[in-house]
Amino acid sequence: MSRFIVLEGGEGVGKSTQAALLAGALGAVLTREPGGTSTGEDVRNLVLDRSHRHLHARAETLLMLAARAQHVEEVIRPALEEGRDVVCDRFSGSTLAYQGYGRGLELGELAGLDAWARAGCEPDMVVLLDLAVGAGRRRRPAGPRDRFEHEEDSFLERVRAGFLELARNDPARWRVVDASGSVEEVADAVAAAVGPGAR
Ligand code: TMP
Repeated sequence: MSRFIVLEGGEGVGKSTQAALLAGALGAVLTREPGGTSTGEDVRNLVLDRSHRHLHARAETLLMLAARAQHVEEVIRPALEEGRDVVCDRFSGSTLAYQGYGRGLELGELAGLDAWARAGCEPDMVVLLDLAVGAGRRRRPAGPRDRFEHEEDSFLERVRAGFLELARNDPARWRVVDASGSVEEVADAVAAAVGPGAR
């Protein structure tokens, strides 16, 4: 049976590296949000671009969800139906953590909009890479920062606490991995959380 596995976490936790390692080990389709389709990558460039710093939280949410709807229908659902595993770098958890806990939009409304956008497609497992905000900032490579990396620590602390609450509320689906170790240590912990085929 194909599996849909999502990696979630805040800024600088090493999610993209770990998603690539996990997808390689599983022979899974590797994809990301916002992005994963040419439409989604255009949306990604728009929402991460700091020239849109006045983007309203509701507009930001709808852009994330537009990218998700396209991603589900164009990439994720077809891959799962073909029997492939899918590893996705961020999904619905990021909308609840960033737009809900971070921006302050109402969680129940967000969950409803998200469910509509993903139309029944939901992860079998979500692995949360948890790391202190300061440690994430120190890991970030030098270079220009996007709209989210530019947020204050208080925003990123709300996002981190939000992710941990989401994980606590759905322990059957979510696993929390300490992301403070080396790439190899974290990869081992992710593989242990995911189970068969992940090593
Ligand atoms: P990343 O690829 O470096 O994780 O950047 C994507 C950014 O988009 C990240 O800061 C989190 C943000 N994001 C949201 O705010 N809501 C969402 O639903 C998703 C998928 C991402």
